[in-house]
Amino acid sequence: MMDLRRGCLVVLGSLFFLLPNLVSANVVFKVQNKFAAARERTLPSLKAHDDRRHGRRLAAVDLPLGGNGSPTDTALYYTKIGIGTPPKDYYVQVDTGSDIMWVNCAGCDKCPTKSDLGVELRLYDPNGSTTGTSLTCDQDFCIETVNPTGCTVGSACSYGVTYGDGSSSMGYFVKDNIQLDRASGNLQTTPMNGSVAFGCGAKQSGQLGSSSQALDGILGFGQANSSMISQLASVGKVKKMFAHCLDGTNGGGIFAIGQLVEPKLNSTPLVPNQAHYNVILKAIEVGHDVLQLPTDVLDSQSGKAVVIDSGTTLAYLAADLFTPLMDKIMAAQPDLTLHTVEQQFTCFQFNGNVDNGFPAVNFRFENSLSLTIVPSEYLFQLRDNVWCVGWQNGGMQSKDGKELTLLGDMVLSNKLVLYDLENQTIGWAKYNCSSSVKVRDDPSGQEYLIGYHDLASASNRNTGWTLTLLLLLAILGSFI
Ligand SMILES: *[C@@H]1O[C@H](CO)[C@@H](O)[C@H](O)[C@H]1NC(C)=O
Ligand SMILES: *[C@@H]1O[C@H](CO)[C@@H](O)[C@H](O)[C@H]1NC(C)=O
Ligand SMILES: *[C@@H]1O[C@H](CO)[C@@H](O)[C@H](O)[C@H]1NC(C)=O
Ligand SMILES: *[C@@H]1O[C@H](CO)[C@@H](O)[C@H](O)[C@H]1NC(C)=O
Ligand SMILES: *[C@@H]1O[C@H](CO)[C@@H](O)[C@H](O)[C@H]1NC(C)=O
Repeated sequence: MMDLRRGCLVVLGSLFFLLPNLVSANVVFKVQNKFAAARERTLPSLKAHDDRRHGRRLAAVDLPLGGNGSPTDTALYYTKIGIGTPPKDYYVQVDTGSDIMWVNCAGCDKCPTKSDLGVELRLYDPNGSTTGTSLTCDQDFCIETVNPTGCTVGSACSYGVTYGDGSSSMGYFVKDNIQLDRASGNLQTTPMNGSVAFGCGAKQSGQLGSSSQALDGILGFGQANSSMISQLASVGKVKKMFAHCLDGTNGGGIFAIGQLVEPKLNSTPLVPNQAHYNVILKAIEVGHDVLQLPTDVLDSQSGKAVVIDSGTTLAYLAADLFTPLMDKIMAAQPDLTLHTVEQQFTCFQFNGNVDNGFPAVNFRFENSLSLTIVPSEYLFQLRDNVWCVGWQNGGMQSKDGKELTLLGDMVLSNKLVLYDLENQTIGWAKYNCSSSVKVRDDPSGQEYLIGYHDLASASNRNTGWTLTLLLLLAILGSFI
């Protein structure tokens, strides 16, 4: 069984081997005025600067979603974007826990060529696009993102990322046009262009190289300057705000970039200066009871930082939260016999409706924002009357050695989640992800509906029963 953690970008490169003189050279470079370097005195760059100042042209974007959060099915959500000129479609996992976009590239020796997800994979070839260019290690994007050492002018800008599940991608950065769907009417879109820097994957490892859950790449929705949304926002194309609604029932959902006008959501502040989307957890309720935890685990005043990450399938709780939570949930059914499946999942036989047999779990955050997960969301059905627990024991190790709790799709699905990076808040509410939301298109001041998509059902029509059979085999293969 795969490890379902995806988030957490680590930029490798030569970060750990900096020579002192190069460090200071970089610092000097970084404090320069953005428009001081001669090569930046170009029209597009000045125009971009002005666009940003005037704040016009801020489009709302509709990213069609596919996939689902079920550990026995696709276990991830993905979208489709056009890259290159002429544009070709690529399927990429949406991951709010990492900061760059990359796609598998021509010449890659260990890239997947087919996928059990029912999507057609293709390798991106910068030479096959009239707008594709390679970035070099002396360019600003590379210096800011990778901080390369020993760079000789004109050589490639290499990147390496390792994800929480141990998988990794390596390659070099390129820049090309991407094509997105801009909202232009209710449930209507027109193509919109933007130029962004992204990784050209030359070597993938771990889950990323295998064919079962393979996609063309990953689209990081982190807030670092290197993410696609930050790059588009910095040239005044979009607002630094996005919302997702991951449909845990039907798969697919809603993913929109831009200002959400309906519904209005309550929010909680993001913890400042963090690599990921961290929010402060104040209390956990199980059924009608507040979970009693020692104050060094969860202080009712200062709370505990937890990470919101769409690239993670389940919820990985720090051990000191996991045990009391599980004890309390299982106390509702003291007679169950538990067994372990795949050395990872706690499973049991249960007849009847799990929503009546187990308590709901409610996370309470700063600003009185709460997040309720009902039993049918935190339990998944392995077969007939066998159910397994989605809560996982053990979080992610942070840089300062703390154990961070990761809340993934299992917790985020069936909610509309709004990341407002301009106001540094994140908000959510229970929502029907098969419906639509209303966003504002700034250039026109119009408000448009962005609706539900399911890319998987579109591709299923082509592959039909073959996909169903493959999925069945995958499930049998994983659990028997
Ligand atoms: C693109 O073309 C250049 C020059 O012909 C070549 O060196 C490079 O390997 C090509 N890149 C890919 C990904 O094929
Ligand atoms: C997108 O870019 C391509 C290539 O530069 C261009 O031909 C096309 O007209 C652009 N489309 C839009 C909607 O601007
Ligand atoms: C990110 O971009 C902003 C605005 O362009 C800039 O002020 C900031 O220094 C950049 N951050 C990093 C870490 O380079
Ligand atoms: C962001 O914060 C400002 C000031 O607190 C507020 O006026 C504005 O409405 C907020 N924007 C959104 C989208 O919530
Ligand atoms: C969700 O919305 C869709 C589209 O409006 C509707 O068909 C469906 O019945 C709704 N589901 C629920 C549970 O309300």
